[in-house]
Amino acid sequence: MRTALTALTEELKRLKTTGVSTVSVSAESLAALRKVVAARAAKSLGAAVGYPVLVEDFKREVPTKATAAAGAPAREFAPTAVAVNPPVAAARPAPSSTPSAASAPAAAAAATTPSKVKPAPTPLLPSPPVVNLPAGDKATRWAWLRDQVLNHPVCLANVRPGKKVVFGVGSLDAKILFVGDAPGPEEEVQGEPFFGPAGQLLTKMILAMGLKREDVYIVNLMAWRPQTPTAAGMEQVANRDLTAEEMAFNLPFLRAQIEVVNPDLIVVLGATAARGLLGAGSFKTLLDVRGQWNQFLGKPLIVSYHPSYLLRQEASGATAARKAKRATWEDLLKVMERAGLTISAKQHAYFLDK
Ligand code: URA
Repeated sequence: MRTALTALTEELKRLKTTGVSTVSVSAESLAALRKVVAARAAKSLGAAVGYPVLVEDFKREVPTKATAAAGAPAREFAPTAVAVNPPVAAARPAPSSTPSAASAPAAAAAATTPSKVKPAPTPLLPSPPVVNLPAGDKATRWAWLRDQVLNHPVCLANVRPGKKVVFGVGSLDAKILFVGDAPGPEEEVQGEPFFGPAGQLLTKMILAMGLKREDVYIVNLMAWRPQTPTAAGMEQVANRDLTAEEMAFNLPFLRAQIEVVNPDLIVVLGATAARGLLGAGSFKTLLDVRGQWNQFLGKPLIVSYHPSYLLRQEASGATAARKAKRATWEDLLKVMERAGLTISAKQHAYFLDK
């Protein structure tokens, strides 16, 4: 059986090179294929059983036992596990989001995998989408884009049942746009970026700047929480690093949000998001880029510490936490200055040692 499945995989790969993007597969072959893939995922990740992303992916497309038994024709499906592109919004008229080659930094991310970005434990993703924003005012374009992302088949295939794809939130007239890496457990339940503990700290940082959370725009590089295998019915606890492929796939959605909101400044939180935007090989450690101005889509971009890092520092002691907070605050003072916000003497002195 294993040999037959290997042959099937090879044949699917061959078909893909000839431009075929969908195939029909019997329920029996699919069930067997699913077993092998799940076993491989479990083996490579030392996990218990199953691979929810794949299982959910297949569930969406595979005929149920009842329909198969009743002789219903096998439905067409795109077996993500063997990297055949799913029909990415193909049926939509322009403006559309359709597959394309990866954009520059993301392509670089894919080409030079840094140590933090591990090989994909997820099924291979199709090419990143091309997002052609419609004409219209900000609200129209944003609503269109949000609908595209929330209903994108690849995004949907990567969230577990009951969990949500996460799109950006905030003011469409925001001068400052914050970018994090990926939703965590709280965010995928709420469907809102930075909703959990890191988000609460981010909200405090924004308040310290004299702004409200609703005044800025908050978004993640990833529209879904990177999944890890769990035993059937178990919740995913730990977060994992993003893969270069995941970053490349999601980057067009982030770029499009930046284009719609058109902020004056971008604040990138943490090394992972910074690698996604600036390119994987553009720096070694966060210290190489933190607090310096860069450019992204023609806009000034500054990288700072991720709020999760600040929370971890709190756990390592008051002095370390204060140092990290002050460093972050200095980055935010730069942001405030560049955004033309008034800075009081009290604000200047936050987290300075007394
Ligand atoms: N960390 C992020 O980068 N984004 C979130 O939404 C939550 C935590």
